[in-house]
Amino acid sequence: MRCEFIAALAFSVLPLVSAQLTWDEAYQKAESALGGLSLSDKVGIVTGIGWQNGACVGNTSPVNSIGYPSLCLQDGPLGIRFASSITAFTPSVQAASTWDRELIRQRAQFHAEEARGLGVHVLLAPVAGALGKIPEGGRNWEGFSPDPYLTGVAVADTIGAMQAVGVQATIKHYVGNEQELNRETMSSNIDEKTMHELYLWPYYDSVHAGAAAAMCSYNKLDNTWACENDQIMNKILKEEIGFRGYIMTDWNAQHSTVEAANAGLDMSMPGTDFEGGSVYWGPALVEAVNGGQVPEDRVTDMAKRILAAWYKMKQDQGYPDTNLDRDVQGNHAQNVRACARDGIVLLRNQGDILPLKNASSIAVVGSGAVKGDHANNVCVDKGCNDGALGMGWGSGSVEYPYFVAPYDAIKEFVPGEVTLSESDDPSQGASAASGKDVALVFITADSGEGYITVEDNVGDRKNLDPWHGGNNLVKAVAEANENVVVVVHSTGPIIMSEILALPSVKAVVWAGLPSQESGNALVDILWGAANPSGKLVYTIAKSADDYNAGVVQGDDDFDEGVLIDYRHFDSANIEPEFAFGFGLSYTNFTYADLSVDSSAASGPIAGSIVSGGPEDFFDEVATITAAITNSGKVAGAEVAQLYLSYPESAADQPPKTLRGFAKLPLTAGESGTATFNLRKRDLAVWNVEGKQWVIPSGSFGVGVGASSRDIRLEGTIEVS
Ligand code: NOJ
Repeated sequence: MRCEFIAALAFSVLPLVSAQLTWDEAYQKAESALGGLSLSDKVGIVTGIGWQNGACVGNTSPVNSIGYPSLCLQDGPLGIRFASSITAFTPSVQAASTWDRELIRQRAQFHAEEARGLGVHVLLAPVAGALGKIPEGGRNWEGFSPDPYLTGVAVADTIGAMQAVGVQATIKHYVGNEQELNRETMSSNIDEKTMHELYLWPYYDSVHAGAAAAMCSYNKLDNTWACENDQIMNKILKEEIGFRGYIMTDWNAQHSTVEAANAGLDMSMPGTDFEGGSVYWGPALVEAVNGGQVPEDRVTDMAKRILAAWYKMKQDQGYPDTNLDRDVQGNHAQNVRACARDGIVLLRNQGDILPLKNASSIAVVGSGAVKGDHANNVCVDKGCNDGALGMGWGSGSVEYPYFVAPYDAIKEFVPGEVTLSESDDPSQGASAASGKDVALVFITADSGEGYITVEDNVGDRKNLDPWHGGNNLVKAVAEANENVVVVVHSTGPIIMSEILALPSVKAVVWAGLPSQESGNALVDILWGAANPSGKLVYTIAKSADDYNAGVVQGDDDFDEGVLIDYRHFDSANIEPEFAFGFGLSYTNFTYADLSVDSSAASGPIAGSIVSGGPEDFFDEVATITAAITNSGKVAGAEVAQLYLSYPESAADQPPKTLRGFAKLPLTAGESGTATFNLRKRDLAVWNVEGKQWVIPSGSFGVGVGASSRDIRLEGTIEVS
C-alpha cells in the first residue's frame, strides 16, 4: 500500500525509507559533519530564521557544505497545518478512545507519509502535555488521555510509526502546561513524585521510542522558565531519561540567551517573537560564546543533536524538498473513518434503541448536525464552533479537505423520511421531533488554544456545559418525542445530569471529535454496520465540582498530586456519571480465567541510563492473562483493562492505576485471550529520597475489567 501511495504522488520519485540509524551511528555522522563547520554555521542550525519567514511554522538556516537544508518544522498533532491538500486526521483524543494500537500506529504512519511527501522534516507532534488534569483545559484534545499509561503507549506508538517513515517526531509540551489561561506567565510547581509518576511518565516512553525532538513549554516550573530550566532539560530529560535528541522552544517561549543555552536548550523557535523581535540566539549566541558565557562545546552539542536526528531518520538521503501544496492524501481517509467510528463511545442504550432498525421517520436536530463555518474552514485555525464540530481550535488544527456532516450522511443513508431542524432553537427542535419515530439531537462543546477566544471561552472552557443551550434543546425535544438519541461532539467531558434525567433520552452516543469523516462514522454506528467499541479516556462526572483540578489564576501548585481523573474519583469515593474506560457495545462480554505469572522482585531499578531511563526499566517481569468471551449475538470488540493497586508499603498511591489494555475483536460466541505484560516500571513508584524508581515489596492487587469501575477478575502479585 505504501508503494501505491508513492506511485500516486505527482512529483519526483521518493526513495523507499529503510531502517533508521541508531543514535550512536547518527552521532558519529553528525560529529564528522561538524568537523568542517564554523560557529556561525552551528548557530544557524540551532536558531530559527524568524516567524513567518519561511515555508513552515519553524525554519532554520541551511548548511550547504554538508547538504543540510533549511529544516522545516510544522504543526501539528492531527495533520499538516497550513497545507492545502492533506488529510485532517482525527484528534489524538479520538484515536485514544479506540484503544486500538494498530489504528493509532496507522494514523501516525499516514500522517508522517503526508509530512514526508510535503518535505516537512519535523512534525510538532505528538502531545503528552497538557496531560489533561483539568477537564476544562483548552488543548486536552490535542493529546490522548489524562491517564499517563495510555498516553505513554499512544505517544510511543505514534513516534515509532512517524519515525519509521523518516519524519522526526517532537514530544511536547515539556512540561506542566495544563491550561491556556496565563500559560506564558504562570509557574507550574509540581512535586517530584507527581512529576515522575504522572507528567514525565510519557516522556520515558517517548525517549524509549527514539523521539528526535522535544519542545519545552511556555510556563515556568518552580519559577524558572521551562526553556531555561536546567533541572527539567539537562538533569531530567537528558541525564535521567537519557534523551539524545534536541529540545526546541515552544514558539516564543524563550526568555534568555545564556541561561537557556546552559540549561540544555538546543533550538530557538521560531527564532524571533511574533513581531520579528526578541532574537535571543543567532548573533547574540555568537557573542555569548565569544564573551565566554556559553562554552562553544555547548553550541556544538546543540548542533550535534539536531544533525544527529536528521541523520538518524536518513533525511540526508533524497528527502523531498519542502512544498506544502502537494496533494498527499492518498487513501488516508480510511484511517480517519476508522478512528472516528471506533472512537465513538456508547454511553446509554435503553431498550436497545440502537442500532436503529425500523425507524422510518427520523428528526435530525441541532446546529451540530450540519456543515457550518467550522466544517467549511471559514474561521482561522478553527476558531469558531458553528455547525458540526470535528476538532478543537488553535495551532493543533488543520484545514479539512472535505467534511461529511452528520445530517448529510444520514440523509444519504436512510431511505425514509428525514426531517432537519438545523438551529439550536428548542421550539423548532421540538416541532421537528414531534411525531417522528426517533429524534437525533446534536450537541457540542469546544475548546482550543488561548490565542483565540470563541464565545467567551479563552482557550480553556468556561464551564462543562454543552454549548448553545444544548440542555434546553434536548429537554424540548425529549418533551416532544420519547425516542431521543443524543449525539455529543466535544473536546472533553460535559456534565449531562439534566439530559440523563429525561426518560425520553434512550441513548447517548459520545461521538467525540471525528474530523472529516464525522457523518460516515456516525452512520456506521447508529445503523449497526459497526458495533461501538470505544471507551472513555477520561472520567465524565455528575457535577463539575466533582473534579479536583480546575483552571487556576496565578501559579499552580498541583496540589492534587497524582490523584487526577479516575484516580481522584476512586480515592475520594465519588461516583462518576461515566467512569474512565467505560463504553457499551451491541453485544456482551464475559471475563474468566485470570492467570498471573510474575518474576518481579522489589528494589530500585538501577540499570545504567539508556534512551528511556535505566536500561532495565522496560524489562517485562509479569504476564497476566484473562479469557474474554463475546456472549452476545453480534460480533464486537472489547477493550479489557488491567488496573494495578500498590502494596501498603508504597505510600500515597491511587486505589488503582491503569497498567495494561487489550482490544479483542470477537465474533458472537467467540473467546479470546487478553494478555497484559507488566514491565518493571509498571510496578515501580518514584522514591523521592533515593531519587530513583523502586519496586515496593508486598501484595499488588490485579484487577481486570471492562472499565475502571467494572472490575470483573481479581488477583494478586506477591513481590518480595
Ligand atoms: C504554540 C503551540 O503551543 C505549539 O504546540 C505549536 O507547535 C507552536 N505554537 C507552533 O505553531
